[in-house]
Amino acid sequence: MSEEISLSQDPLQLKRIHHVEFWVGNAKQAAFFYRNAFGFSQFAYQGLETGERNHTSHVLGQKKARLIFTSPMGRGGPMNEYLDRHGDGVRDIAFEVADADAAYSAALERGAESVTEPHDRSDEHGTVRWAAIQTYGDTIHSLISYKDYSGPFLPGFGAKEIPGEDTGLQIVDHIVGNVELGKMNFWADWYSKVLGFERYITFDDKDISTEFSALMSIVMSDDSQKVKFPINEPAEGRKKSQIEEYLDFNGSAGVQHLALLTGDVIKTVRHLRANGIEFLEVPQSYYDELTDRVGEIDESIDAIRELGILVDRDEDGYLLQLFTKPLEDRPTLFFEIIQRKGSRGFGKGNFKALFESIEREQALRGNL
Ligand code: FE2
Repeated sequence: MSEEISLSQDPLQLKRIHHVEFWVGNAKQAAFFYRNAFGFSQFAYQGLETGERNHTSHVLGQKKARLIFTSPMGRGGPMNEYLDRHGDGVRDIAFEVADADAAYSAALERGAESVTEPHDRSDEHGTVRWAAIQTYGDTIHSLISYKDYSGPFLPGFGAKEIPGEDTGLQIVDHIVGNVELGKMNFWADWYSKVLGFERYITFDDKDISTEFSALMSIVMSDDSQKVKFPINEPAEGRKKSQIEEYLDFNGSAGVQHLALLTGDVIKTVRHLRANGIEFLEVPQSYYDELTDRVGEIDESIDAIRELGILVDRDEDGYLLQLFTKPLEDRPTLFFEIIQRKGSRGFGKGNFKALFESIEREQALRGNL
């Protein structure tokens, strides 16, 4: 159904992912977890002490990756409704754009649904323009452009510095959404039409299937390939796919994982494991076949095996990656740690081993 659109590419003039905001039940404790487990540092805060009485936000950063954890301070309202339905999760993948007003009207003209009309947000450090549009599930994209703001994070936030021990994470590499059966093409077309993204790679159920279950995925990317959004939907299988498990527990479509880029996956994963992060495990046989499959790599195979890191090679180079177990009680959100050595892919060669590992966990949860 996706007719090529003749409108100009990059209608929103996206500069980068400005931040990712999570709505959580207890932002203070979530910030403590992500700081101590993943090595983020807190640098900004919004709450009672800054004059915000409705919600509290803790802002964490590591190099260019910035995460906000926000909790409601009272009853009712959209945050409590979100938490009631989904539990803790990603609410906002916020973009910095050249001009929030222009981006917002271009998005609406192209079929986006409005969440927040463009408005000024100001404090003593200056002003930003802010608007927001709806994407899959209860997820939104804020569109933020800077006017003259020079404060610690965004208007309304005060500085609050609690350093974490850096684990080498640098930036958000990609963010994956899980959508309902039959909706993948709809959302891929939406990203193409509304944001001017292009289809970067498509994986079908032959690429991503195990004995029991399957999924399909389309990766959408902006012009510069700085922003990459794979979109997954479940495919027919003998048993329940991991995407269906996610949809059941999240209560709708939503963000499945954030991939964080590191320049040294061995150092990062060693650090994260020491901090108590649990990763999906692949069988040792994966490593017996590794060199045959990917050829020579710079890293020590012993270290790769010891840390349970996955490796995949394509025509451009190779990548090293690893996936955490779900970060919350619900089997919904997880993180990926990725290092790229030339490859711009997503680890297609690891899908089978990985999904078998996910299914072992799903079976333990009684959800396969
Ligand atoms: Fe990923």
